[in-house]
Amino acid sequence: MAAPLFRPGIDFAREMDRGDPLARFRDAFAIPKTADGADEIYLCGNSLGLQPKRAAQYVTEELDKWARLGVRGHFDGDFPWMPYHEFLAPAMAAIVGAEDSEVVAMNSLTANLHLMMVSFYRPTAARHKILLEAHAFPSDHFAVESQIRFHGFDPARSMLLLEPRDGEELIRDDDVLDMIGREGDAIALILLPGVQYYTGQVFDMAAIARAGHAKGCVVGYDLAHAAGNIPLALHDWDADFAVWCSYKYLNSGPGSVAGCFVHARHAAARDLPRFRGWWGQDKTTRFAMGTAFHPIEGAEGWQLSNPPILSLAAVRASLDTFRDAGFMGPLRTKSESLTGYLDRLLAEELGKPVRRITPRAPAARGCQLSLGIAGGAGKDVFRGIEEAGVTCDWREPDVIRVAPVPLYNRYEDCFRFVEILKGLLAAS
Ligand SMILES: Cc1ncc(COP(=O)(O)O)c(C=O)c1O
Repeated sequence: MAAPLFRPGIDFAREMDRGDPLARFRDAFAIPKTADGADEIYLCGNSLGLQPKRAAQYVTEELDKWARLGVRGHFDGDFPWMPYHEFLAPAMAAIVGAEDSEVVAMNSLTANLHLMMVSFYRPTAARHKILLEAHAFPSDHFAVESQIRFHGFDPARSMLLLEPRDGEELIRDDDVLDMIGREGDAIALILLPGVQYYTGQVFDMAAIARAGHAKGCVVGYDLAHAAGNIPLALHDWDADFAVWCSYKYLNSGPGSVAGCFVHARHAAARDLPRFRGWWGQDKTTRFAMGTAFHPIEGAEGWQLSNPPILSLAAVRASLDTFRDAGFMGPLRTKSESLTGYLDRLLAEELGKPVRRITPRAPAARGCQLSLGIAGGAGKDVFRGIEEAGVTCDWREPDVIRVAPVPLYNRYEDCFRFVEILKGLLAAS
């Protein structure tokens, strides 16, 4: 059935919600409440995704298992702890476009980024640079800077920083490729985001990997804002590695276990340096307690420690919800429509006072829209939005990020958010 034609007004939003094939998933999430008990307008999945209701059940099951079985929980019961992370791999792989053996849930994002750079940043006198954005998320900047220093190089010479052109806020795809073309012979590692945290811009990961490899560079991605947000095809794009967190669009809880991708090409690469731990040791010999290290082939070989099961239980709960929704295909269809609706409402209802920083083209953005408020009133407007029962977030120096998420947001949420913003702007 054709989607109804856009009309301003809440009736259209409600009609869209009634026709939404994913609408029932909202009920699978705990929606935070305002002081008067109403559902908040929660548009903050870019920062912390909402709790799938089944997370409590899955975590409780593991607590019960621990109480009933003690150490035997590693081997007994429905989801024994020894291989627990393996139960997560197929769904995680489906979300990032990978083979099961290319992904593993472990550690946190920045820790994984360091582990990946230990293996994949191999600077030489001639090729020592890391290409990243000038406005990369600070943790990525710090990780890169410290790895460069660790190898005895100078960040001032080895960090190659991509910036938008003067007067622009987004980095042009062509400028990324030109930089790789110009500097590629000196670049050891390209480290870029899938979705930029501040602007919401999607990078052309396939083209970057192609251009980088043509120049002999290693290509890795930070998918903090991309995993569970936009469709990814890490294996086919031939990325060397990627890292992501699970607490944003992957709804796995604050600080929950992160993800890591290592391309199958590197699965058995014994020549790569890596930091070692017993959980990366070949499973058939791990408990022989020998000290000769034989890494598991694939991403699992980069694990260090036995993982926090209570946290992985929440990740599993989230991944099961993604599976029930049909993974990224249906979610992306709704997301383009939902964010497109919000973008159009902002343009038609508010116009110039709200600067939409995120790209217009649906393919060049995910759920998030980044908004600048004219006249330096951004922070006051943001406070007003929060007081009106909306959760979104503020990023210094000057942006309000709003992210309608297809698993639990409604068109009505977008409509009401724009009405609130309109009221605040009229009053300011
Ligand atoms: C783009 C990006 N990279 C890295 C991080 C750091 O993540 P963590 O604290 O999980 O290591 C974040 C956190 O929000 C992020 O948005």
